[in-house]
Amino acid sequence: MPAPPPSSLPDGIRYLPDYFDLAAQQALVEDIRAVVEAAPLFTPAMPRTGKEMSVRMTNCGGLGWVTDKVRGYRYQATHPVTGAPWPPIPPVLLGLWRAVADHPASPQACLVNFYSGTAKMGLHQDRDETDFSAPVVSVSLGDDCLFRVGGLQRTDPTRSLRLRSGDVIVLGGPSRLAFHGVDRLYAGTSTLLRNGGRINLTLRRVGGD
Ligand code: SIN
Ligand code: MN
Repeated sequence: MPAPPPSSLPDGIRYLPDYFDLAAQQALVEDIRAVVEAAPLFTPAMPRTGKEMSVRMTNCGGLGWVTDKVRGYRYQATHPVTGAPWPPIPPVLLGLWRAVADHPASPQACLVNFYSGTAKMGLHQDRDETDFSAPVVSVSLGDDCLFRVGGLQRTDPTRSLRLRSGDVIVLGGPSRLAFHGVDRLYAGTSTLLRNGGRINLTLRRVGGD
C-alpha cells in the first residue's frame, strides 16, 4: 500500500514508511533479542479485572510501562517479575528519537510489545505519562498489522493503516493523545522474525525528572 498523502492523517501524526531498511531492521531485532534476554517478556493484565492482554511485553530505558490487576497501569524502574532494572535503550532507537521527535530530551521509556497469532490491542490513549510535550515514536518489526488511529475522543472517526516492518509512526502535537490500537496481525507477511509475529517499540518521555 503506498503511503497515504500527509493531508489524510490528522495533524500531529507522521507516518514514515520504510524508515529502517532490512539491514537496520535485522540489527534492531538483535538489539531487542538482547533486551529480552535481560528483561524477559511478561504477560500484562488489565487493572481491576486481571484479564490478560494478548500481547507480551517488556521494556528498556530508565522506566518501563507495566500493568497488573492490583496496581494497574504505571511506569516503574524495575521488571515486575525479576525485579531487575530495565536494560538501556539501544543507541539506534535514541538516534531515531533525535531524528524524528523534535524534542530536546531523550526518551525515558521504550515499551516492547510482542504480537503473535491473534494478538491485538484495543483502541486506547497513551496517557500514563505526565509530560505530553514529547511525542510517542513507534517502530514496527516483523509481520504486517492493521493499525487504527482516531482523534482525541474514543468515538471520533478512525482511519486504518497497514504497518509494515521498518515503518515508523509519530504521534505528537495535537495528536499526542490520539486514540490508537492494533486490530489484527497479518501472519506470515515477514520473515524478519525467525518464528513470525510482530514487535512494536514505543519510545516515550514519561516526565517528572
Ligand atoms: C501500543 O499502542 O502500545 C502499540 C501500538 C502498536 O503495536 O503499533
Ligand atoms: Mn499505545
